[in-house]
Amino acid sequence: MQPDFANFANQMIYNNYMALLDIKKYPAKVLKQKAAPVAEIDEGLQRLIDDMIETMYAAPGVGLAAPQVGVSKRLAVIDISAKEESVPLLVLINPVILHTEGEIEFEEGCLSIPDYTAKVTRAESLVLRALDRSGRQVEVETGGLLSVAIQHELDHLDGILFIDRLSPVKREFIRKKFRKKQKSAD
Ligand code: NI
Repeated sequence: MQPDFANFANQMIYNNYMALLDIKKYPAKVLKQKAAPVAEIDEGLQRLIDDMIETMYAAPGVGLAAPQVGVSKRLAVIDISAKEESVPLLVLINPVILHTEGEIEFEEGCLSIPDYTAKVTRAESLVLRALDRSGRQVEVETGGLLSVAIQHELDHLDGILFIDRLSPVKREFIRKKFRKKQKSAD
């Protein structure tokens, strides 16, 4: 049998370059900052994208934005295929929402706010424009869970967390809860 060199090479690259990144937790400052546009799609960015994908899958989560790994750039990865099989992995660079319609309420969580979920109201459907990882401009028209995931990740790029979209009473509750957590960790 011939050894499969192509596969072997892929495996080597995978092992050498993939790395799990540290996910920043609320109330880390980077989560509150407006992220800067990606200026160049270079090798460093490709590595960051691969590491973010790996980190998202390991968490596990359905989306991860660059500020969540401490990089204040307009970049996010989303993969909801665990819940909706037919939807491919999305890499969104400098994404912009062009149009929204309707309303949907969905129970959301966030890798930066562990052990807390709450219902958030967002647009039911949207049209999005972004660059993919090769720098090609793509347009995504979608609704339901993917629409919610996109809006959640894009919020991260503007320093907005899903708890910022809750009522002031709920927001105060979660603030206190995390302050307590931090104190007991000190
Ligand atoms: Ni999040």
